[in-house]
Amino acid sequence: MQPKKKSNQWNPDSYSKHTDFVYKLASPLVNLLDPRKGEMILDAGCGEGSLTLEIMRRGARVIGVDQSPEMVQKAREKGLEAYEVSLTESLPWRVKFDAVFSNAVLHWIPQAREAVRNIATSLKPGGRFVAEFGGAGNVAHIVAAIKEVFARHPEFGEPDIPWYFPAPQSYREILEAEGFKVEWIDLIPRPTPMEDVRYWLEIFANGIIGHLSPEQKVIFLEECRMILRESFYDPEKGWVIDYVRLRFKAWKR
Ligand code: BEZ
Repeated sequence: MQPKKKSNQWNPDSYSKHTDFVYKLASPLVNLLDPRKGEMILDAGCGEGSLTLEIMRRGARVIGVDQSPEMVQKAREKGLEAYEVSLTESLPWRVKFDAVFSNAVLHWIPQAREAVRNIATSLKPGGRFVAEFGGAGNVAHIVAAIKEVFARHPEFGEPDIPWYFPAPQSYREILEAEGFKVEWIDLIPRPTPMEDVRYWLEIFANGIIGHLSPEQKVIFLEECRMILRESFYDPEKGWVIDYVRLRFKAWKR
């Protein structure tokens, strides 16, 4: 019998400590959103709320939603209005938003049609949807390393890769099919410096290895790290990961 696979678990403190690049590198996306005073904005997948706060500081009223209760709690501790909501279920607001913003979340949602439909429903006609997430080719070396380590250890079972990294054309088609006019969509290669790929794997791949024993997890992390060191580690630059962002701005018709 295949061991039962687990979904990713989120620890907001470890996330904030080791992956602060997620929000530090997102100011171009907030600029693309261009939040205005008095607007109502939905932050779809707000996490611990750093960008929600940034949008609020620019004068908009923002509601954050996230699937993780731990992240929602952390966002609320920052004084934000945040709710535990899944983007694949219909959103619980009658009020329509001026804009929906989403950073580094949609690659966790392979049910893209449902998510985009729910976002479209929550927007006013003429409202904008500005988002960025992992696109085609994102963390390709990491995915290959995970598969390689699982292949070396058949007792680990098959890796269940939860991420969805679409090409611009296929996401454009989804947006258009759900009633958006796409102003701009493109892939942006963004090699991303970080502390150590080990933390990245511990934070983002913990669902993939959730069924392994503690000893097997150590083997997994060590072996992935050794494989990735070849392509991602430079003694002067440190670790730099092969991020490729899919960024777009679209308008609800
Ligand atoms: C990303 O932001 O590209 C990403 C984060 C976690 C897992 C996969 C991709």
